[in-house]
Amino acid sequence: MDRANVAACWEANAETWTRQARAGYDLYRDALNTPVFLANLPPIAGLAGLDIGCGEGGNTRKLAERGARMTAVDIAPTFIRHAREAEAEKPLGIAYLEGDGTALPFAAGSFDFATAFMSLMDMHRHDLAIGEAARVLKPGAFLQFSILHPCFAPPYRKVLRDEAGNVRAIEVGRYFDGIDGEIESWHFGAAPAEVKASVERFRVPRFHRTLSEWVAMVVGAGLAIEHMAEPRVDAQTAQAVPYLADTHIAPLFLHIRARKGAAA
Ligand SMILES: C[S@@+](CC[C@H](N)C(=O)[O-])C[C@H]1O[C@@H](n2cnc3c(N)ncnc32)[C@H](O)[C@@H]1O
Repeated sequence: MDRANVAACWEANAETWTRQARAGYDLYRDALNTPVFLANLPPIAGLAGLDIGCGEGGNTRKLAERGARMTAVDIAPTFIRHAREAEAEKPLGIAYLEGDGTALPFAAGSFDFATAFMSLMDMHRHDLAIGEAARVLKPGAFLQFSILHPCFAPPYRKVLRDEAGNVRAIEVGRYFDGIDGEIESWHFGAAPAEVKASVERFRVPRFHRTLSEWVAMVVGAGLAIEHMAEPRVDAQTAQAVPYLADTHIAPLFLHIRARKGAAA
């Protein structure tokens, strides 16, 4: 699938996605993924940062609240419009631009750090996206990103439960299928049934690469991996918030921080 088709899918998702994410239905993001991402982020106060694939901008705002001078790009104009409206309502100095993560509209060496929250794996060319992120970083700067875990969320994934409904195991398959734009249709699982019934499912183009291919792309872009994380909930939270319980058994997300050489 090419760039234009990916952009069209995300533009079609953007209105409902923004409304539902802001209503708290992107529970994996808000309750697990973003808190772990931020906990593992080096200090960013005063730094110039780029958030790649920012969506409605909620995570970009968290970076700005930590004192970073943020720029953010997304391919879907409706996401950028919503992000700008939130910025206008409560300014944090964020510049939101419509832009393609695989061809960033910035000069080489423009940023002290870059982030990509659950977006690189949605881009039509992961290699170009990582290469572009590396290009716009200053020497010594870092890229931190989260993706669907290549090992535990490949194209086939099923959560297996026991008779009481407790998560018992994760079944995975098609790990070596390098898919390029297979459409997955889904709702935010945490949305109430009546909310789900009132809107079309999201249509998300899936691109899958193996763990070793991800590492090869990062290293090939001239970045050195310095930190990785696999967010999970503890047993108590799994019991209290069954929606997140799968991450107590095996990770759904992978976080990587990688740094550009100081001499680059
Ligand atoms: C799963 S959403 C994540 C959004 C946001 N980072 C968050 O955490 O809420 C993936 C985002 O990647 C964006 N995206 C997909 N392909 C892109 C590309 N080539 N360039 C920029 N953004 C892209 C989509 O529009 C969407 O906003």
